[in-house]
Amino acid sequence: MDQNALKALVGQEAVKYVKDGMILGIGTGSTVRYMIDALGERVKNEGLSIIGVATSDRSAKQAESLGITIKQLDEVDHLDLTIDGADEIDDNFQGIKGGGAAHLWEKIVAINSTKNMWIVDESKMVHHLGKFPLPLEVIPFGSSHVLEKLDKMGFNPSFRMQEDGSHVLTDSKNYIIDLHLGRIDHPHELANTLNGIVGIVEHGLFLDTVNTVIVGRQDGPEVLTARD
Ligand code: 5RP
Repeated sequence: MDQNALKALVGQEAVKYVKDGMILGIGTGSTVRYMIDALGERVKNEGLSIIGVATSDRSAKQAESLGITIKQLDEVDHLDLTIDGADEIDDNFQGIKGGGAAHLWEKIVAINSTKNMWIVDESKMVHHLGKFPLPLEVIPFGSSHVLEKLDKMGFNPSFRMQEDGSHVLTDSKNYIIDLHLGRIDHPHELANTLNGIVGIVEHGLFLDTVNTVIVGRQDGPEVLTARD
């Protein structure tokens, strides 16, 4: 199976955990796209009644096109389960997210969700975080000074740009800075440091967040329990 087939596999597996009446957080990314397709099938074929809260405009659009009811986070009083992708997951189930520039909304949805499930192909499972560049969502105002500060701190930052040379913009119209760290030995310490820098809205370290991980492996989906 190629990587896309593994993504489809975990997307289809994840929707088996969705129950009638749930309020569901819907993540963002190419793996989640498969999950939304599979969810749309269940809504159509089984008449499954759920409400989705999307972590990006693109996920909202896809879900609505498949007949899934979408509400804003502020319109619901809780979320039962959020299903999202990830860029890296380490041995302690700590994660990096934001490869799709959606980690701010993803984190807000995640912390408001009773349970969080991540769906990944096996290439995302790593021993140490950091090979994947760590995304930061930053306010455009003064962002070159934030970049300079991060550079002086040795974090090897770069703005994420589009092919036409303009900044990648998040759904909140902010910029993304990626930190090319190579290896993150102390994710909680790094998170605290980044939380203290004015101008950074949110970083892509998702620590102590996920409950269940579904990993797409060649011999089928593997379900891992990270925490209850
Ligand atoms: C978006 C994310 C995605 O979940 C993450 O980038 C994984 O994406 P993909 O499934 O396309 O590999 O955090 O901000």
